Amino acid sequence: EHLALWGGRFSSGPSPELARLSKSTQFDWRLADDDIAGSRAHARALGRAGLLTADELQRMEEALDELQRRVDSGAFAPIEDDEDEATALERGLIDIAGDELGGKLRAGRSRNDQIACLIRMWLRRQARVIAGQLLDLVDALIGQAQAAGRTVMPGRTHMQHAQPVLLAHQLMAHAWPLLRDVKRLVDWDARIDRSPYGSGALAGNTLGLDPVAVGRELGFSEVTANSIDGTASRDLVAEFAFVAAMAGVDISRLSEEIIIWNTQEFAFVRLDDAYSTGSSIMPQKKNPDIAELARGKAGRLIGDLTGLLATLKGLPTAYARDLQEDKEAVFDQVDTLEVVLPAFTGMVRTMVFDHDRLEAEAPTGFALATDIAEWLVKNGVPFRHAHELSGACVKIAEGRGVELWDLTDDDYVSVFGDFLPAETAVQVRSVLSTEGSVAARNGKGGTSPQRVREQIAAARNEVDQL
Ligand code: ARG
Repeated sequence: EHLALWGGRFSSGPSPELARLSKSTQFDWRLADDDIAGSRAHARALGRAGLLTADELQRMEEALDELQRRVDSGAFAPIEDDEDEATALERGLIDIAGDELGGKLRAGRSRNDQIACLIRMWLRRQARVIAGQLLDLVDALIGQAQAAGRTVMPGRTHMQHAQPVLLAHQLMAHAWPLLRDVKRLVDWDARIDRSPYGSGALAGNTLGLDPVAVGRELGFSEVTANSIDGTASRDLVAEFAFVAAMAGVDISRLSEEIIIWNTQEFAFVRLDDAYSTGSSIMPQKKNPDIAELARGKAGRLIGDLTGLLATLKGLPTAYARDLQEDKEAVFDQVDTLEVVLPAFTGMVRTMVFDHDRLEAEAPTGFALATDIAEWLVKNGVPFRHAHELSGACVKIAEGRGVELWDLTDDDYVSVFGDFLPAETAVQVRSVLSTEGSVAARNGKGGTSPQRVREQIAAARNEVDQL
């Protein structure tokens, strides 16, 4: 019985230790539906090639329908002796159709082309789910950006106050990479849209089966051009794993920002109770667990990618059993993203910014020093000197423990004296406002309200086209 797949040249079945190592049903059973769909398409190919009579084909299809019903209801499931999902399903089919008919389905295909095809089918479907979830998150960010209006916040580099930016601009800076992740999945789908069915174990099949028709039935518009490549490559699985890891990293960076904004010291954002957790000991605590879990899970998404790449690295090019290791990596990524994304999006949609606080903090820490330097440039001062003069203003303000707008007219007149007449020097106050600062950054891609409005519309448009 346990020699079902390869009994002929063996005098014993696998040792229990081998069987335990070899077994993959505990994770690959989720491919069962795709395998049955593949079997249907393959049966029709056998029929067209004259290898199943019309009557046999009909009985085979009925048996596959019954097998699907048993899988759906749980009446049929892998047992201890089944090596992988394909082994189990063949057993199930033979239970239903008998040895005579059930034993015919394996002709002209190998578990190598089968599994290579199934992982593609399964991943393509999951990629659509994940792309949809990513788009929901992008939509939530765009919604928050729209709601943010003209609110200004401290823009930071090196985590230090740098220049004021619109809150909407900062939020959109997280939306764009996520939108690119979705587009990466779309591009990837066009590449993975080739069925390896018909590649056999590695060299193709002798039975006159039509791989194009099988591929079409399984949703592929093309077949792989090389049967060795079709069975042995996993670069497309790894490419999916990269996009999944990248999305995880993109989400993690936003998480980090939300966690910081949510601290008592920053107090830029409040999270909704339904998307926060408490502490079992400290009654006052409200924790940003969703953002922390998302940040933490980015680590395992990266681990799944690097593990898979390490598996592939030393493999000669045709099927080797190592390739079985591709599945758990991407299954874990899909399971991870599909629970992280809805929770994360809910948190983003419901978080509430403290606009007054953001506005108040925006110009502090001498964040308008660049505006002073650029105002000097507009008044004919070479930038090298302008930088120096603005720095001198910062030095005075810092020494007195005040902000730039607290300097007196006399301060500005004396600092700019070598370059500008007094009546011009005092006009520097015109750029000492956050609104003025962001409005002035009006080149394409800049943080001015007008550019940010355009940006939001452009992103919406891209989302709508996906
Ligand atoms: N379960 C294997 C995998 O996931 C497919 C079986 C191929 N086995 C073999 N002996 N060629 O890759």
